[in-house]
Amino acid sequence: MSTPIIDIDGITKSFGAFKVLDGLSMKVMPGEKLALIGPSGSGKTTILRILMTLERIDGGHIRIGGEQLYHMEREGRLVPADERHLTRMRRKIGMVFQLFNLFPHKCVLDNVTLAPMLTKGIARPAAEKRAMELLDMVGLADKAKAMPAQLSGGQKQRVAIARALALSPEIMLFDEVTSALDPELVEEVLTVMRRLAAETDMTMLLVTHEMGFAHDFADRVLFFDRGRIVEEGKPDEIFRHPTQERTQAFLRKIIAAGHRV
Ligand SMILES: Nc1ncnc2c1ncn2[C@@H]1O[C@H](COP(=O)(O)OP(=O)(O)OP(=O)(O)O)[C@@H](O)[C@H]1O
Ligand SMILES: [Mg+2]
Repeated sequence: MSTPIIDIDGITKSFGAFKVLDGLSMKVMPGEKLALIGPSGSGKTTILRILMTLERIDGGHIRIGGEQLYHMEREGRLVPADERHLTRMRRKIGMVFQLFNLFPHKCVLDNVTLAPMLTKGIARPAAEKRAMELLDMVGLADKAKAMPAQLSGGQKQRVAIARALALSPEIMLFDEVTSALDPELVEEVLTVMRRLAAETDMTMLLVTHEMGFAHDFADRVLFFDRGRIVEEGKPDEIFRHPTQERTQAFLRKIIAAGHRV
């Protein structure tokens, strides 16, 4: 057995008096494509934000590639991670959000090259070569010089995906990347994501309300409710033969809302 690339071990997280995560544990193997589904407020985004170090944990441990994320060793003891450790660990992970957050005053190409040049010290020619490959992969090589305001939502989101990939993360997190898009723009983003899942051995965690897409994309689906994993399994098991009442009720609601499962 190889080491999990993500090993979440008994983490807790509260916002004020509200406990969002209460002893959550889960493991992700290298290269796995995981879909996180569940009702609004169940803690899916919080988990991704914690992995991205945008949100601290209150208790428990997370290991990325066997290395502690929020702790580090000092004289044989585990102590809270300092900012330097967090910055180093954060580089292993890329995230694409619901709202693309492109730099509005930079062209598409600069949006993709800026972070690799600034944080990894990659020279402009190499950064641009890589950026053009990625823009080609997401079908936007011809938009390299366009400004974000000149792009559709689906195009912006594809630039955001290229930008996250430009940092060559080992793990990619996607949080509802299509939910802010007009329906006719959803498919072009999903097509890029499907390709990415099929063609790379990157580990990917996807939060989505698109159950049909989760089914095609994922090796394994986790159903969350109130900060806990209620049920997990292969897509067919979860979507066709869920065993837990809460999973069944959730899927019924999704279907009633007109989504494909
Ligand atoms: N910064 C915050 N401050 C206070 N409460 C928060 C904060 N972030 C999240 N929460 C609360 O934590 C709970 C889990 O939120 P989270 O965003 O992780 O849910 P989610 O599963 O992603 O939901 P959705 O499907 O609606 O995106 C919610 O009740 C939310 O209101
Ligand atoms: Mg969310």
